[in-house]
Amino acid sequence: MSKKKIRPGKKIDGVVELPGDKSISHRYAILAALAEGGSEISNYASAADCRSTLDCFERLGVKVQTNERVVRIHGRGLDGLIAPRRTLDAGNSGTTMRLLTGVLAGQKFNSKITGDSSLRKRPMRRILEPLAQMGAKIDAKEGGLAPLEILGRTLSGICYTAPIPSAQVKSAILLAGLFAEGETSVEENVATRDHLEIALREFGAKVSKIDKVTRIVARPRLQGRALAVPGDLSSAVFFIGAALVLPGSQVVIHNVGLNPTRSRVLDVLISMGAPIHIASLQLRDGELVGDLSIKHAELSGGEISGAQVAEMIDELPMLAALGPYTQQGIVIHDAKELRVKESDRIAALAEALRAMGALVDEFPDGLRVGGRSAGKLRGAKIDPHNDHRIAMAMAVAALGAAGDSAIVDADCAAISFPEFFPTLDRLVEH
Ligand code: S3P
Repeated sequence: MSKKKIRPGKKIDGVVELPGDKSISHRYAILAALAEGGSEISNYASAADCRSTLDCFERLGVKVQTNERVVRIHGRGLDGLIAPRRTLDAGNSGTTMRLLTGVLAGQKFNSKITGDSSLRKRPMRRILEPLAQMGAKIDAKEGGLAPLEILGRTLSGICYTAPIPSAQVKSAILLAGLFAEGETSVEENVATRDHLEIALREFGAKVSKIDKVTRIVARPRLQGRALAVPGDLSSAVFFIGAALVLPGSQVVIHNVGLNPTRSRVLDVLISMGAPIHIASLQLRDGELVGDLSIKHAELSGGEISGAQVAEMIDELPMLAALGPYTQQGIVIHDAKELRVKESDRIAALAEALRAMGALVDEFPDGLRVGGRSAGKLRGAKIDPHNDHRIAMAMAVAALGAAGDSAIVDADCAAISFPEFFPTLDRLVEH
């Protein structure tokens, strides 16, 4: 499939089982590789990005066995990674590149990490600067871009105050802190996803969080173990979105990760009138997990800005694409980070929504998407700019349009959710 046709839908109805959370899968794989003994990770993300993390660790000497969605990782201990013979390839995955650079900076060997053309354009200074403060030596291309050449050396702990809210930056520093002399801490004004901190504790490390400061004690003994990855809330949001687009819809989504640092999107949707219910809430391997049920309702719409932006950064494409289905439309501000994701998501959304006839104002830090009064969307040819979340968000918006749409290069959905289009085809009634 390269071009995916989306026919208008009548409703979406059914039950969804989600692939494992992308952010958590990366972190479990990293810690399992650094742990002593074997780990068995079930419901490991099928996302291509998480495969990139496993491939990198194989090149670092870690034995990885994959059977369906269960990944077995034979940990080599904190000092067990070996110098890679070839350049590590993070593919499209910013999380792989940034977190692995944190791990590699404190090794006794040199390494090089690169990625695809999109990743080679994404900013790496945000990790290079704090890692340099720890004593890391990393050569980048002009502008702080990948490929990165990492000259492994002894690091020292730092107290870092994060200038931008980013879980990838926080995680890169904490991972480097595992290998540093002394204690490492990161202070954040907006609490970003804390999956690494939770996972570190599960593997036996000492991590504390007091007020805004997260601290890690260096050189813990990480112990391999069995873990289950919750379903990815950022993927669930596309089915929630489809239910909100198509009247009469009803969807149940099982086993969704509901970590409070990720679930702001649900609060925002509920405050806009979405009937979302949570059942069977439980704590598993330190992560909150539950089942979601959602019915169609017309949303009021409204503004998303300030701290909310970092708390629901990956869900903003879906929120923007829901704009034309709301009463007042959706306004997003303070989100210039969206311009340095897998694509410039503000520009990509503005282009795609305009192609479907939506009223869009683009701002440097966000966009305004007109609501229902601007009229029904029409089918269009959509270029997602090779960005998985744009492809999926626009496919959902296209379900409620008049006429067929086509998403070009729709395969890019596999970066986070290879099963997205087959699942959508199964659930949508035409
Ligand atoms: C992620 C953090 C976020 C998010 C990305 C995954 C992570 O990026 O957008 O999809 O797993 O740490 P930033 O840290 O750049 O905000």
